[in-house]
Amino acid sequence: MCGIVGYIGREKASDILIEGLHRLEYRGYDSAGIAVPAGDGALEVIRREGKVEELERACAARELPATMGIGHTRWATHGRPSETNAHPHIDCEGKIAIVHNGIIENYVQLRDELKAEGHTFRSETDTEIVAHLLEKYYDGDLVAAMAKTVTRLEGAYGIAAIHVDHPDQIVVTRKDSPIVVGYAAEQQASLLASDIVAVMNYTRDVIFLEDGQIAKLTREGITCYDGNLAPIEPALTHVDWDAESAERGGYPDFMLKEIFEQPRAVRDTIAGAVKNGRVLLDELDLDDDDIEAIDSVCIIGCGTSYHAGLVARELIERWARIPVSVEVASEFRYRDPIVGSNTLVIAISQSGETADTLAAVRIARAKGAQVFAVTNCVGSRITRESDGVLYVRANMEISVAATKSFLAQIACLMLIAMFLGQKKGRLTTRQVNSLYYDLRETPSQIEDILQDTAEIEKAAKLIAKAHSVMYVGRGIGSTICYEGALKLKEISYLHAEAYPAGELKHGPIALLDETVPVVAVVTDSPTRMQTLSNVQEILARKSHVVAVATEGDEEAARIADCVLYVPPCKDWCSAITASVPLQLLARYVALERGCDVDHPRNLAKSVTVE
Ligand code: G6P
Repeated sequence: MCGIVGYIGREKASDILIEGLHRLEYRGYDSAGIAVPAGDGALEVIRREGKVEELERACAARELPATMGIGHTRWATHGRPSETNAHPHIDCEGKIAIVHNGIIENYVQLRDELKAEGHTFRSETDTEIVAHLLEKYYDGDLVAAMAKTVTRLEGAYGIAAIHVDHPDQIVVTRKDSPIVVGYAAEQQASLLASDIVAVMNYTRDVIFLEDGQIAKLTREGITCYDGNLAPIEPALTHVDWDAESAERGGYPDFMLKEIFEQPRAVRDTIAGAVKNGRVLLDELDLDDDDIEAIDSVCIIGCGTSYHAGLVARELIERWARIPVSVEVASEFRYRDPIVGSNTLVIAISQSGETADTLAAVRIARAKGAQVFAVTNCVGSRITRESDGVLYVRANMEISVAATKSFLAQIACLMLIAMFLGQKKGRLTTRQVNSLYYDLRETPSQIEDILQDTAEIEKAAKLIAKAHSVMYVGRGIGSTICYEGALKLKEISYLHAEAYPAGELKHGPIALLDETVPVVAVVTDSPTRMQTLSNVQEILARKSHVVAVATEGDEEAARIADCVLYVPPCKDWCSAITASVPLQLLARYVALERGCDVDHPRNLAKSVTVE
């Protein structure tokens, strides 16, 4: 969602800020802006609705010699997307500029108070009150003004501020919204961002600010304070993501690049997880008594992460015989869920910053449950709010549509299911070895699928003409249908619905005719025959069928318009393999329909507000 960057050094700040904003584009935004000192005792604030390129053009047309400044990409929450509502926002006198991620919940009350005191507001945003509060509390010290300002704020925020009288510093703070700061000694520059991607070209040793901490960035270094302005020394984290990972590397879009990275993502995630028939998940810090006491598992997540949870339910129940519920975090948090000390809660979040998932984690822990996070982002909020963390090793995911993180999540959850199965005495070391062997086959099976996508492109042409698409499958097959349909909706703007194949006749079959194609997952599984019968019902309604089937399945070839083959594998492994053609299908349909695959409208990579 919104992105923040800040730079203070020796180079032309506007160039570095624009570069940082480009790197944050993947998070989704509707407008962008920067603020730098203008050199005449004023601030230059340049904002544009739309793409960062617009802003870049506007900046190129001006003299901007400043060597410090802040920038922002905005995703509208309060106030429509517009130049006026874009950040940075300034105080009455135009001396202070701020950028903000998150939501100030008590902004109406604060705005009334500030208006009554004579402050003039220019935008419809909640953010602008922060600039005016800083103005109100500023007494020659911007850090002290920030400390006072945040005591007035309710909600979530990452805030960076500059003052025209202090061209030697940027002040930044946060609560429930990520901020990372880093010092690049060689360049004598300090940087800040809401996301490591925007600073990692300059430094790999960074500080993830904690809630309530304030940092002052200068050309000489970074000083951190707690909320009472006592200096503190937060730990440096070395981030070893390669810069390549942030670039498309020859692929036409990040989504395709990331789909092709899936074999590696799965390999890295499962590497070394089983030794001598024992699942080694030290991160799941549960002793035998804890495991004995677990009588249920509750999985929470949003979007794609929720769908990974659906796969996990099948396998934890199958292998560990523990009842599992899977909940959308935004519902879980408001419905007084039944979890307690005997519930193992698994919170799945690619970004580790999703507001609803974080709220659900807090609720589960408050009710006494042990919460383990499954996330892709080191240092993310969820890692600090959970009892333990399992990282998926997908590496940075730029495309808004999650792909490699989904497969890596599934692989990680498969390990958890094996771990629980073994600890509960349901899986022998031999069985674990055998399951792990099968799982380790999946990366090369994905590689096979990626070698020839011609049939998927053909199927995409068929689907792209439709106005609505149905996805059906059973068991594992149905869980990945939900994700397949979500991918299609997200990037091609085509209506799609997923149903367990057996449910079709209880309603949705009424929608079927020759204009509504159906994607049917009929890979090898104990319920393949039943699903094939459902496909017959579909054909009788004249719908075109795209089947995802196991190589050599001639029956699928006879009945379907297109067959997307995947290599033979265990049915549970098909959660990984059969997801790949569904991802590619969505991408090719999006391209057929002329959509911007990496920047789907209205969506954000990371939803850090409710
Ligand atoms: C947003 C993204 C989805 C993602 C969901 C959950 O809606 O667009 O792709 O699945 O958030 O994100 P998380 O980072 O918690 O997995």
